Amino acid sequence: MNAAVEAELYPLLPKYPAHVGIIMDGNGRWARQHGLPRLVGHRTGVENLRRVLRAAVELHIPIITLYAFSTENWKRPLEEVQGLLHILGDALEKEVGELHKNGVQLRHIGDLTPLSENLKRQIREAMTLTQHNTQLIANIAFNYGGRQEIIRAVRDLIQQGVSPDAVTEELLSAHLDTANLPDVDLIIRTSGELRVSNFLIWQGAYAEYYITPKYWPDFDKDELYKALLAFNQRERRYGGLSDVEYQ
Ligand code: IPE
Ligand code: IPE
Ligand code: MG
Repeated sequence: MNAAVEAELYPLLPKYPAHVGIIMDGNGRWARQHGLPRLVGHRTGVENLRRVLRAAVELHIPIITLYAFSTENWKRPLEEVQGLLHILGDALEKEVGELHKNGVQLRHIGDLTPLSENLKRQIREAMTLTQHNTQLIANIAFNYGGRQEIIRAVRDLIQQGVSPDAVTEELLSAHLDTANLPDVDLIIRTSGELRVSNFLIWQGAYAEYYITPKYWPDFDKDELYKALLAFNQRERRYGGLSDVEYQ
């Protein structure tokens, strides 16, 4: 898209979230709607990830965290879990080169322990290759759960012998997988569910939520821009009062 068309379709906004989280939900329902197997929905969802990452760069989002597989998703039938692991490996193989070219810095949040050595290596290599890129930081939350992340952080602190008085919000934040990243400002959930499902529960304490009925494979740049527009209309008070109340 040329710059003039881009500027007309997606005018610059007064406020930009420093960090956007997306709960990429609805692959299964998208597949059912099209009379296709669930795994085709997941494949289509991963293809969409590539488009949305490009859109995020174009829309000047600096950091994005994408929820791809939760610590609870292991409860699904073995065939679906194996399919999802396979799709992740495939996507890493096919997409990392292009993402690298586009300046995307790939990171992982969650627990890699139960993944195969091959998948762990692929993830590590993708992170090393892209570590100096600056266009967009893309955190892939795979085998991620907010509660488990907090428990891992607490265990770390205890192992380091940190005294109870030294435990602060900043210290705990610094031991989470998102250490050194700002808290998430905007959390988008596709497919209409009104819940958090264990996503960034610490970092999202004051996040703005945007829920769309669109299934993840149908979520595109227009939808992302709509979420940014909604974010611009929110008044964030962090427990304080709005400017109007002071008058
Ligand atoms: C989201 O799509 C992807 C994962 C959770 C892995 P779902 O698979 O949850 O899709 P629905 O909710 O069944 O439609
Ligand atoms: C949340 O979706 C996890 C991901 C999108 C990866 P789920 O489909 O697993 O969430 P629930 O079960 O509807 O809460
Ligand atoms: Mg779901």
